[in-house]
Amino acid sequence: MAKNKLRRFKEMDEMSCVFQPNFEEVTTDTFKMKGNWHANYFKNNHPIIVELGCGKGEYTIGLGKKYPHQNYIGVDIKGARIWEAAHVVEEKNIQNIGFVRGRIDFVQTFFGENEIEEIWLTFSDPQPKKPNKRLSSKVFIDKYRQFLKPGGIIHLKTDSDLLFESTLEQIEDNKYQLLEKTWDLYKEMPDSLDQETKEILSIKTHYETIFSAKGFTIKYCKFKIS
Ligand SMILES: C[S@@+](CC[C@H](N)C(=O)[O-])C[C@H]1O[C@@H](n2cnc3c(N)ncnc32)[C@H](O)[C@@H]1O
Repeated sequence: MAKNKLRRFKEMDEMSCVFQPNFEEVTTDTFKMKGNWHANYFKNNHPIIVELGCGKGEYTIGLGKKYPHQNYIGVDIKGARIWEAAHVVEEKNIQNIGFVRGRIDFVQTFFGENEIEEIWLTFSDPQPKKPNKRLSSKVFIDKYRQFLKPGGIIHLKTDSDLLFESTLEQIEDNKYQLLEKTWDLYKEMPDSLDQETKEILSIKTHYETIFSAKGFTIKYCKFKIS
């Protein structure tokens, strides 16, 4: 492993805002934070919102700064990206943000029943050849159901027509409740959205900036699975 990468991994071990469940913990479902995020990390009872595939954490950090009375957790497998996000949080001593470096495939072992209020899927990989690996596929939604509160919301923002279309199909086929949908967010912010939601949706992630510059339209939908 490159020297720089090793240094970052070691640094992350010492960062109080980063949690790295190991293989044994996820396969035996014994990760110590599961069900304990309020008591053992945030030290409050504010709602917890997670961003899955957070990359460098622009949404997690943007929302965390905007809403200090809510808690945010970004999840990603890529150490270098989490390291960047966690550095911002540590430097600014932000108390309502944490990160999990781990595979979303094991996400049901990171959070306890009813522990999470909302989920953000931001520019998830469209997985053209592996539909079951899409973070909005039924396989993953059934994992989210294990920790999302009843009535909890899932937001999806993407540049990918394929991912957006397949998510809308999943919503229809599985009778989830579609709350908002737009194929071109910045051209036609739905009138039904209040000013605050519009501001939230205007937060741009790293991948969003890249794909917007290439001329891709940004799609957004919001739905409930129970
Ligand atoms: C296209 S990037 C988007 C990153 C960020 N949300 C953004 O918009 O800039 C997708 C991210 O999801 C992460 N990811 C994809 N599949 C994952 C999985 N199964 N477990 C953990 N992270 C995953 C990747 O590591 C990557 O950082």
